[in-house]
Amino acid sequence: MSFRYQVHFTRDLFAPGNTLLRDVAAEPDKGPKKMLLIVDRGVYRHHPRVLVQAEEYARRHRDAVTLAARPVVVEGGETAKNDPTWIEIVHKAVEKAGLCRHSYVAAVGGGAVIDMAGFAAATAHRGIRLIRIPTTVLAQADAAIGVKNGVNAFGKKNFIGTFAPPWAVLNDFNFLSTLSSRDWIAGVAEAVKVALVKDADFFGFIERHAGPLSQRDSCAMRHVIYRCAALHLEHIAGGGDPFELGCSRPLDFGHWSAHKLEQLTGYRLNHGEAVAIGIALDTIYAYREGLLPEKDFNRILDVLRNLGFSLYVPELDASVLGGLQEFREHLGGRLTIMLLSGIGKPMEVHKVDEKGVLKCIEWLKNREDKNATFIEQKSRMPQIQGVKGEAVVKLRRVFDNAVDGI
Ligand SMILES: NC(=O)c1ccc[n+]([C@@H]2O[C@H](COP(=O)([O-])OP(=O)(O)OC[C@H]3O[C@@H](n4cnc5c(N)ncnc54)[C@H](O)[C@@H]3O)[C@@H](O)[C@H]2O)c1
Ligand SMILES: [Zn+2]
Repeated sequence: MSFRYQVHFTRDLFAPGNTLLRDVAAEPDKGPKKMLLIVDRGVYRHHPRVLVQAEEYARRHRDAVTLAARPVVVEGGETAKNDPTWIEIVHKAVEKAGLCRHSYVAAVGGGAVIDMAGFAAATAHRGIRLIRIPTTVLAQADAAIGVKNGVNAFGKKNFIGTFAPPWAVLNDFNFLSTLSSRDWIAGVAEAVKVALVKDADFFGFIERHAGPLSQRDSCAMRHVIYRCAALHLEHIAGGGDPFELGCSRPLDFGHWSAHKLEQLTGYRLNHGEAVAIGIALDTIYAYREGLLPEKDFNRILDVLRNLGFSLYVPELDASVLGGLQEFREHLGGRLTIMLLSGIGKPMEVHKVDEKGVLKCIEWLKNREDKNATFIEQKSRMPQIQGVKGEAVVKLRRVFDNAVDGI
């Protein structure tokens, strides 16, 4: 089976003169296509003219696209995925508007609303075309790019969902100006993740621009989004397993604990913040196991800190280990966790030493609690030399000393 969809970058998507949306929706000789707009309340709050603009847009381009009903505003953030009522609201709107499989649901919002509306679209009539219009850094760089949708259930992230490629993804950079500081930087955690498993040069770019990125440098952020989205697309198109039939999921590096932490914190942590902690944890673990060189270990932790992420929350304790089993169940097959043997060098492991993970958590806790900089830690760590087998043993000891010695 092959499939194809377009990912575009634009500004002012609903400006009357911007023909991107009409061009993506129109089909020659098929008359105007029906579209139902689902809008994230957070977007509506910060861009109150978006509904009127979309309606004006459809009037202007009525030969190609018509709005089948007034736009539906849904709750933004994880509530959209935690409360099944929102799926029902979208299903009802689809039914009332008389959409068919050749019509479009267009979801405007963050990753959560896009995941929820995408699931509703994929299950109405067994699949209505979905146009994703992501409005956060994380959604433009990652969540909206791939072929997955879903909602949370039974306290588990993305427990219900489908694989369903979108019709198109339209990234409008202008939406990003109104993001909170937390949501602005959260998406960069996913960029760090994909850079670590796929592109060492891109990691270098993020490293060099960590300051400007955290200070809302739009130019640097546009590059991050573009490169992150491109790497995701390359993975889906060329990775050989777009629908995740195997056990391996390189783009879920750092996610086994991140998904669990989101749940354990009652979603106080947003997805990107949880991913930053998940990356830190797996980085420390790989270093402790003697898989990852110290230099890379330092660079990764430094970049996360320089972007402004906190790498410890009180909920990061033994209960996070439950995330390993949940991750395995979600993936299917044997446990497969992605670790790093270097920046840009992923490696899979099938066993995780839980006691070792707890040591890593303890180390992170001590480090954050005492506000010790990693430079101080490092100065206590002797250079590791010798063959790999020896290095593992020495690293373990050094690491344990570092924990005890703080
Ligand atoms: N399907 C996938 O492949 C995939 C991949 C990664 C993440 N995700 C999911 O994405 C979700 C996280 O998405 P997110 O980081 O975009 O956060 P989010 O969707 O939770 O949105 C965060 C907040 O920003 C608001 N918002 C959205 N756009 C805005 C704008 N332009 N201006 C001001 N406020 C705005 C929302 O209303 C919400 O309050 C998680 O549920 C995660 O599991 C899915
Ligand atoms: Zn993610």
